[in-house]
Amino acid sequence: MSENYKIIDHEFDVVVVGAGGAGLRAGFGCAEKGLKTALISKVFPTRSHTVAAQGGISAALGNMGEDSWKFHMYDTIKGSDWLGDQDAVEYMCREAIPAIIELEHYGVPFSRTAEGKIYQRAFGGMTTHYGKGTAQRTCAAADRTGHAILHTLYTQALKHRAEFFIEYFALDLLMSEDGQCLGVMAWNLDDGTIHRFRAHQTILATGGYGRTFFSCTSAHTCTGDGNAMVLRAGIPLQDMEFIQFHPTGIYGAGCLITEGVRGEGGYLTNSEGERFMERYAPSAKDLASRDVVSRSMTIEIREGRGVGPQKDHIHLNLMHLDPDIIHERLPGIAESARIFAGVDVTREPIPVLPTVHYNMGGIPTNFMTEVINPTAKDPNTVVPGLMAIGEAACVSVHGANRLGSNSLLDLVVFGRAAANRCAEIVTSGAKHRPLGGSGKKGDNGDKALARLDHYRNAKGDTKTAALRLDMQKTMQNHAAVFRTGETLDEGVVQIDKVYKRKADLGISDRSMIFNTDLVETLELDNLLSQAVASMHSAANRKESRGAHAREDYPDRNDEEWMKHTVSWVDGSGHVKIDYRPVIMTPLTDEIEPIPPKKRVY
Ligand code: FUM
Repeated sequence: MSENYKIIDHEFDVVVVGAGGAGLRAGFGCAEKGLKTALISKVFPTRSHTVAAQGGISAALGNMGEDSWKFHMYDTIKGSDWLGDQDAVEYMCREAIPAIIELEHYGVPFSRTAEGKIYQRAFGGMTTHYGKGTAQRTCAAADRTGHAILHTLYTQALKHRAEFFIEYFALDLLMSEDGQCLGVMAWNLDDGTIHRFRAHQTILATGGYGRTFFSCTSAHTCTGDGNAMVLRAGIPLQDMEFIQFHPTGIYGAGCLITEGVRGEGGYLTNSEGERFMERYAPSAKDLASRDVVSRSMTIEIREGRGVGPQKDHIHLNLMHLDPDIIHERLPGIAESARIFAGVDVTREPIPVLPTVHYNMGGIPTNFMTEVINPTAKDPNTVVPGLMAIGEAACVSVHGANRLGSNSLLDLVVFGRAAANRCAEIVTSGAKHRPLGGSGKKGDNGDKALARLDHYRNAKGDTKTAALRLDMQKTMQNHAAVFRTGETLDEGVVQIDKVYKRKADLGISDRSMIFNTDLVETLELDNLLSQAVASMHSAANRKESRGAHAREDYPDRNDEEWMKHTVSWVDGSGHVKIDYRPVIMTPLTDEIEPIPPKKRVY
């Protein structure tokens, strides 16, 4: 270690990294069960990106008409283009119903029907009777559902006395020589101290890596820090090529306009005023799944039917909706449209464009949220001491394409599952294993601090912001809504070059107190390894499935490609790729496996 850092040691039963929806639910769940639990977050918990989720959270409550968790499961498997693991999808869709009731009891201020039930709206790909009817399954708190849930979960965490370490930046996992996770190293941004957290279970709830792209709905903090820590620990990520474009990001600004707008009756039009989704998805129309709608919009623009002076975007219309409905159910998007597009939604359409929104891929886990070693002989082999939840994880419930409103659900269902699993396998107050270090293969935090030192003393000529922009433009141009072998192969060459330029980074400030230049550089390093994993995984998958749409391989090819991609990235940016089978067997015999078929809406 080249610097003398002040290291403060902590011992907990469970450490959760990230305090958004998933992290908070897991954290207070563990505390509630009597486990000494720490929650570490680089931002104040209620500023986590969950706050930005708008339209709602899915569960087959049946408040607005007939529904069943089996219909929900079918829709989710179909939405995933048969890449979702059926055991995990069954678990999520069944647990959705008690999870919502639990949220209601915690105090989430859901919108209500006239009879006082939780209000549910239609969302893309959500049907009844296995595709025959339209489901109203998405429970909403107006169009600020994530905000309502996040604040409620935060108060629960305070109530159960989970210990918060706020504005602490997680640096790296502590791994034993035999591959057990023993905790995590973190930097307190406020006073510059280094903290070594020992834990029997470390739960990564660090969100997605949307900021690998130039235009995304993700917060600046969405840098996939947990995913990158996992890669540095020699554990692979899964399905990194599956990146969701939300159809309705505001043109130019990228901010989200909820799918709930279309759920309430809004629709898309091209330059001819045509409701073009009727041609692409005759049954579901504007409420087809997101990959289908994003591709249809892109085709309209490419064929010269985009709107605006450059004919490069699409119109989202809600002028025909009753202003009272907009006021009551969509107040947030009316405000966003006014601020970011200068549009009064009661008079004019909103200019929109498909925008990067969600990462289906991430850290591979089983449905109990334990990180799995996907290529071990026994597929049930877990990485001891390590769990992952929320957008950081690939359980995989979303497969190749997530359905809108299944993300907030994923957070609370698997946050709770992680707490339940910790209660089963952690003995509160048990002695911690000794750390490695000093010549032993295992780690006592030296590696994390060596990396910190490296960037703190980086004296190259490349500025972090410049390299980040090059990465984002490369991802945007080469891993877009439509992909080809040519664009992807060129993307691999370009992103590998961008990765190598991190050796020339230079930062202006060595301070350990709120050094945002250093934080952004560490975040960029995290993003770069995920960008190369995504681009290489995409170039390797020679079929079209869900959000991965290849013009040179336009069809899904179940015979060769019904498998999850797993990718390792070593310290020099070299990517190794392997595959593991999709789990096609549900968790219980209450439902038959859902066999693959052509996916039409
Ligand atoms: O459109 C939306 O409100 C986003 C929801 C989601 O991504 O689940």
